[in-house]
This record gives sequence, C-alpha cells and structure tokens, in this order.
Amino acid sequence: MTDIVQHLTQDHQHIDKILTALEKQVDIIEKDDKPDVDLMIEIMDYIRNYVIIFHHPTEDLVFILMLAHDDSARPLVEELFHEHEEEQKRSAALAQVIDKAF
Ligand SMILES: [Fe+2]
Repeated sequence: MTDIVQHLTQDHQHIDKILTALEKQVDIIEKDDKPDVDLMIEIMDYIRNYVIIFHHPTEDLVFILMLAHDDSARPLVEELFHEHEEEQKRSAALAQVIDKAF
C-alpha cells in the first residue's frame, strides 16, 4: 500500500472515530440532555478545516491517478470510495440534526 493510500485509510479510521463521538453527542441532544458543545465544535472544526479542505480533494485526486495508472487498483479505490460515501452520509445526517438543535 502506498504512503498516500495508507494515509487516506488512516484518515478514514480517524473520521469514523470522530463521527462516532459526534453521533453520541447527537444522541444526547435527541434525549433532551446537555451535549458537550466544545467537543462538537472541535469535531466540526476538524471536518471543515481538514476533512473538507484537505482530505476529500486529496482523495479525489488520488483515486483519479490510481485508476489512470493501474486498473488493478480499482478494488482498492472502490473500497476507499465506499468508505468516503459512508462518511459523507453520516456527516450529512449529523449536520441536519445539529442544525435543528442550534
Ligand atoms: Fe475519504
């Protein structure tokens, strides 16, 4: 696995962890309890300033380059793309709940 693919895979693991933490806070909101707003702000800041600005554009470029140079990379690209789509669905669902709550 190339360094950049390993980096993107690690990003996905980190993003999964922070989305899980954010989902826990959303569960607290939905139970009309008090969430950790500072933690939520830190997570949203990470998503806005790292995931959206750096991770996603890097991923898009890497996917294109991998497929252009090595079609055998397609299963790995499809796996990473699937993880990417799942992240985006979870992020969008969380954003809707958070927007309604605040
Ligand atoms: Fe991704």
